[in-house]
Amino acid sequence: MNNLIEQTLQLFTQSEAGFWLPKSASTNAVGVDITFYYILWVCVFFFVLNVVLLVYFAWKYRRIEGKEPEHSPHHNTPLEIFWTVIPIIIVLIMFYVGFKGYMELRTPPSDAYEIQVSGQKWTWNFTYSQPFFYVSTNELHVPVGRPVKLVMTSEDVLHSMFIPVFRVKQDVVPGRYTTLWFNASEVGEYNLFCAEYCGTDHSNMIGKVVVHDPAEFVQWLEKAANYIDEIPDNDIQALAEAGEMLYNRKGCAQCHTIDGGIDDGPTFKGLFGRTEEFTDGTSLTADENYIRQSILQPLAKVVKGYDPVMPTFQGKLRDKEITAIIEYIKTLKSE
Ligand code: CUA
Repeated sequence: MNNLIEQTLQLFTQSEAGFWLPKSASTNAVGVDITFYYILWVCVFFFVLNVVLLVYFAWKYRRIEGKEPEHSPHHNTPLEIFWTVIPIIIVLIMFYVGFKGYMELRTPPSDAYEIQVSGQKWTWNFTYSQPFFYVSTNELHVPVGRPVKLVMTSEDVLHSMFIPVFRVKQDVVPGRYTTLWFNASEVGEYNLFCAEYCGTDHSNMIGKVVVHDPAEFVQWLEKAANYIDEIPDNDIQALAEAGEMLYNRKGCAQCHTIDGGIDDGPTFKGLFGRTEEFTDGTSLTADENYIRQSILQPLAKVVKGYDPVMPTFQGKLRDKEITAIIEYIKTLKSE
C-alpha cells in the first residue's frame, strides 16, 4: 500500500520538467509539487463533475410540452452531511500539507551552509566566507545534498530571489535581512531570476545557480578565492585587469569615478602622482603607500572638500588585491 502511494506520488513529483512545472532539483521541491498537484487534481475532478452534472440535469429536467414539472425534494439530511463533511476533509488536507510545507520552507536546518546575498540594481552578489572568502557576481555556486541558507539584503530597492527548480522565492528588502534555504538534489546549472520589478533592467537581473558535488564545490571556491595568487607578480597588465574587476565588485565604484566626475570620494582618474591636500592642512603626492593607507585606514588622511565617510577595507582585501587596485589606478592617467 505504502509502495503504491509512493509510486503514485513519484508520478507527480518526477524530477524532469513536466507540463505544469519546471524540473525539480531540490528536496523542498517534492513537497511543493505534491501540494500543487493535489490542489490541481482536486479542482480538475470537481470542475469536470460539476460540468457533467450541470449538462446532464439541464437535459434530464428540461421542459416537455404537455408535462407538468415534478415536485422537487426540499431536504435530505444524510446528503447535506455528506456534501459538507467530504469537502471539509479535502480542504483540511490542503491546509495541512500547505502549512507543513510552508513551515519547512521557512525553517532552515541549523547546520546549513550560509551564503550572504546582496541584490543591487541589477546584479546579485554572493559572498562566501567558509572555508574560503570569495564574492561572486550573478553566479550562485552551491554543494549538492547539503542545506544552503541564503541571508539576503538589498543595497537599493526591492528585489526578489527566485530559483524555479528549487521552488523557492523570497523578497530581498533594503535595510533588513530575509532568508531562504534549499537542499539541492541534483548537480547541474539552473536559472535564477529577480521576481520583483526593480527598474529599467529588472528583466536582465538574471543569474545562474551552479550545483557542484561537495568536493568539487570546495575546489571551485578555493580556486576562485585564490585567483589573485595565480597572477604572477610581474604581470602588471593582468594585475591592473584584476584591479578593475575589484574596483567594480568591491564597491570602489560607488564613490570614486574613473572619468574625473565628482562623487562622494576623489576621482581615480589621474590620482596616481597627483598632489592631494588634506583636511589637516598637509599635502602629499599620491603614491603606492598613500593609496594603500587610504584603503586600509581611510580616515588617516581625508582629502580637502570630502567627508570622512569611507569604511576601512582591512580584512576585505588581500595585499595582492590592493596591489592590483593600485596598478589599475596607475592606468587611469589624467589625459
Ligand atoms: Cu531586481 Cu527585479
